[in-house]
Amino acid sequence: MRFHVLTLFPEMIDSGLNTSITGRAIKNGLIELDSVNIRDYTKEKHGKVDDYPYGGGAGMVMQAEPVYLSYKAVEDKIIKEGRKKPRVIYTTPQGRVFNQEIARELSEEEDLVFLCGHYEGIDERALELVVTDNISIGDYVLTGGELPAMVMIDAISRLVKGVLNNDDSAKYESFTDNLLEYPQYTRPEQYMGKSVPKVLLSGDHKKVDKWRYEESLKRTKQRRPDLLEEKNEDSTVTE
Ligand code: ADE
Repeated sequence: MRFHVLTLFPEMIDSGLNTSITGRAIKNGLIELDSVNIRDYTKEKHGKVDDYPYGGGAGMVMQAEPVYLSYKAVEDKIIKEGRKKPRVIYTTPQGRVFNQEIARELSEEEDLVFLCGHYEGIDERALELVVTDNISIGDYVLTGGELPAMVMIDAISRLVKGVLNNDDSAKYESFTDNLLEYPQYTRPEQYMGKSVPKVLLSGDHKKVDKWRYEESLKRTKQRRPDLLEEKNEDSTVTE
């Protein structure tokens, strides 16, 4: 999987993702990170990439040309290397809301381009020319698209084969099958008067699995009943 991020703050993307599990995956060549500075594609003086909005109003708008040219450079490279035209994700609160299903779908792609906006947005013509998917990470407004891009890249990367040590950990956890994860414990057996549930010490894997499933169900009912409703709707459709 190759992630290409068009941004005015490549150092934010690089420092965030070259850390921890994504950092290890980049080092091991399981994913590739290509941060592209949109400012390198302006033809204006002093690296200017924004201007006042036509029609007036507060703030500045990112100009179409550097956005388009930075995308084109990435697209040309991908095509030259023999791969297909990539999906281009614009991180925006106006998009469909990101979730595990979208992460899974995007993890099948060979290349993904993320376009990060700043200021009051990007000239609509550049968006019309390059964007294939508008995606939001939730109903709140951030100062820029870099954090959303990093959130999505993290969630997608951990679904790429080999990125997690244990393949099982991507399969059995929160949101797979619309259930939240069961509680986990490690040593010591007693902590501040609280003990580890006995069944986990029993060595009986069948009993452990049953207990974990029931805990997942209980937790989902308590914390995210909406997920169970979705799960029931899905199973009525497929039955
Ligand atoms: N840019 C600013 N806010 C955002 C959000 N909530 N999701 C995606 N991109 C954004």
